[in-house]
Amino acid sequence: MEKKLPKDFFWGGSVSSFQTEGAWDEGGKGLSIYDVRPTPEGHADWKVAIDEYHRYKEDIQLMKEMGFNFYRFSICWSRIIPNGDDEVNEEGVQFYNNLIDELIANGITPMITLVHFDMPYHLVKEYNGFASRKVVDLFERYARVCMERFGDRVKHWMSFNEQNLHSCNLIYSNAEIIPEGKSKAEHLYQVAHNVMIAHCKAVKALRELVPDAKFGGMTTITNFYPATDTPKNNLFCQKAYDLVNDWVCYVQANGKYPRYYTAYLKNRGWFPVFEEGDEELLKYTCDYLCFSYYRSNTLTEGEFDMTTPFNDIVEKHVVKNPHLEATEWGWEKDAIGFRWVMNTLSERYDLPCFVLENGMGARESLNENDTVDDDYRIEYHRNHIQEMKNAILEDGVDCLGYITWGPIDIPSSSCQIAKRYGFVYVNRTDEELLDLRRVPKKSFYWISKAFKSNGKDL
Ligand code: BG6
Repeated sequence: MEKKLPKDFFWGGSVSSFQTEGAWDEGGKGLSIYDVRPTPEGHADWKVAIDEYHRYKEDIQLMKEMGFNFYRFSICWSRIIPNGDDEVNEEGVQFYNNLIDELIANGITPMITLVHFDMPYHLVKEYNGFASRKVVDLFERYARVCMERFGDRVKHWMSFNEQNLHSCNLIYSNAEIIPEGKSKAEHLYQVAHNVMIAHCKAVKALRELVPDAKFGGMTTITNFYPATDTPKNNLFCQKAYDLVNDWVCYVQANGKYPRYYTAYLKNRGWFPVFEEGDEELLKYTCDYLCFSYYRSNTLTEGEFDMTTPFNDIVEKHVVKNPHLEATEWGWEKDAIGFRWVMNTLSERYDLPCFVLENGMGARESLNENDTVDDDYRIEYHRNHIQEMKNAILEDGVDCLGYITWGPIDIPSSSCQIAKRYGFVYVNRTDEELLDLRRVPKKSFYWISKAFKSNGKDL
């Protein structure tokens, strides 16, 4: 008998507020850090993005045509509480109410991300972001406001997009000022702990305010292959996987820090300071483990020294994998690595996983037929969906859904619209806004078929 994916499997798309909404100074919104953060030369700015704030109805129709039954978006904190520590902005609440209602009216289940890299600029200027426990409390207040206002209709929630990045790079917690007398590592891992506590406070709030809703932990996962077959190289890759990806999943699933992470930090004098009650808060675990997956990485031999934060070491050892093709941005396409990651999550944790981001960036423009023949994107998703099916149907992985990244073109995380992920082309460039027209690409028709057949027709 042919094995099939579950009937209630989720298919859809995922975006962040700062990469879609635009309307940066409309509707009572306060300044977000993305409104003031400079972008690299030749990239756009975030002011308009793809103007989702005004065009969400049209875009939801496109999602419906693509067969979406799920959409993950993030709330812009400074639209709800403009400075992070002031009053609730009702116009901002109304915008998300309208968006949620429109999704539900079109048969699309919404999921809310509370923080997708952005936050009110005031909280960074005033308190140095998540370096401050005051910001942890302000985040909890914001989370509770969102749950009170949207929890009657939204039953899937997550706190921080790709939470493990907060242990890799200060920019994600917007706590870039390292206090005098502290090393970068000491500061980084303290901030990562503060973010973990903020996450746990949000889980606790959801349990109290919307007990029938589910909370997902969220990490970005890349698997690491040893470039050589030496035992040392293999061990380095295992440690890299644990330190870069796994420790956050471990806490989200088991309610405490893993031994390897505690030992690593304690041996270097970097273990974070706990406040009273933190131990108890960590016990607020998640219902499932969400992750983003785009590529794998290959590493040469290395060692975790006593002074450098782990991610800085790992980054220095990345080399090209001769067996894999890469995108123009050097991201190595690896669908089998995707199956490996799903298996690893499933073996380590007794929780369902949920693919919340997957896709490939490409440079594109409209051809003479006013479309984009993006066969490479079709191939990328076909391979990944196939390997996901192998993980579920062959390997027994419990997975809730396959959610693609940026299904309607949006600027990349560094505001480069030239790096497109969508099944729908948005008519703008980094230099010019043009008319922002939406144009289905070849992959639009393919993904509609794949989604509407519940992953059968690839
Ligand atoms: C994820 C982020 O890391 O990857 C997104 O959640 C981001 O915000 C996506 O856009 C793709 O990365 P990039 O840099 O190609 O946009």
